[in-house]
Amino acid sequence: MASLVLVVIVTLACIQVQVKAWYFMDSECGEVISLTASDPDGVLYTSASLYYEDNMNCNVTITAPEGQKILLIFVSFEVDTGSTSTCSDADALSIWDGSLDSGSWLSPTDGLCGDLLNVPSYGYATSTNETVLYWTTDNSDNSYGFIINFNLYTSTPCDATTEFACSNDRCIPSELKNNLRDNCGDLSDEPEVLSFFGKFLAMGLGIVIGIIVAIVIVCICCVVGCICCCVKCGKK
Ligand SMILES: *[C@@H]1O[C@H](CO)[C@@H](O)[C@H](O)[C@H]1NC(C)=O
Ligand SMILES: *[C@@H]1O[C@H](CO)[C@@H](O)[C@H](O)[C@H]1NC(C)=O
Repeated sequence: MASLVLVVIVTLACIQVQVKAWYFMDSECGEVISLTASDPDGVLYTSASLYYEDNMNCNVTITAPEGQKILLIFVSFEVDTGSTSTCSDADALSIWDGSLDSGSWLSPTDGLCGDLLNVPSYGYATSTNETVLYWTTDNSDNSYGFIINFNLYTSTPCDATTEFACSNDRCIPSELKNNLRDNCGDLSDEPEVLSFFGKFLAMGLGIVIGIIVAIVIVCICCVVGCICCCVKCGKK
């Protein structure tokens, strides 16, 4: 299971290669990341290492130029949960809309923890030009943490000369279209990705399951073959 998670993370990390700006929560503690027309997006990781650290207490602020807003989209999320059903005694990420002296929570007040199913699949969109990501970890049980894509957006009407009009009434800088990452929050800036999955789904559930079963059988044969070889060699 852990190796599967690792493969997924590495794959996602490869897709991220296209991004200009990478940030790590642990090295950006207390810092401000400023998005601008020439730097309209970035990716925030918990840490440069596979697992995040204990006892973190970090605020990272992301700002946008006046009149623009910020979209935060979760690429991965694996955060240790505590013993209760809330995140209050767990490692947790909370997201604030606005500056700390004014504004409101975008995430639940006690933060987000758990896995990707516990975070909104369309991410969070600020209503202001600033957001604070507040990340705390306790002194036990670490996990892989999160990867968050963030980028500028504005509300419609879009400026056709500089912006791409998403299907969800958002406008994003046109250079973010077709970068293999969801910058609209509904994938509408990634028609190739959508059509790839669309084709896959259009094949029908039966064929998709057939392909998966075939792959599993091939894998089992390989493993059995290897074990047989090993046993033979061992006997010689
Ligand atoms: C970090 O942000 C949270 C809320 O967003 C706030 O309660 C806390 O005081 C902030 N910490 C620092 C060190 O600014
Ligand atoms: C965010 O918007 C406010 C006005 O609403 C403005 O004063 C501030 O300079 C903007 N922040 C940045 C980083 O441009």
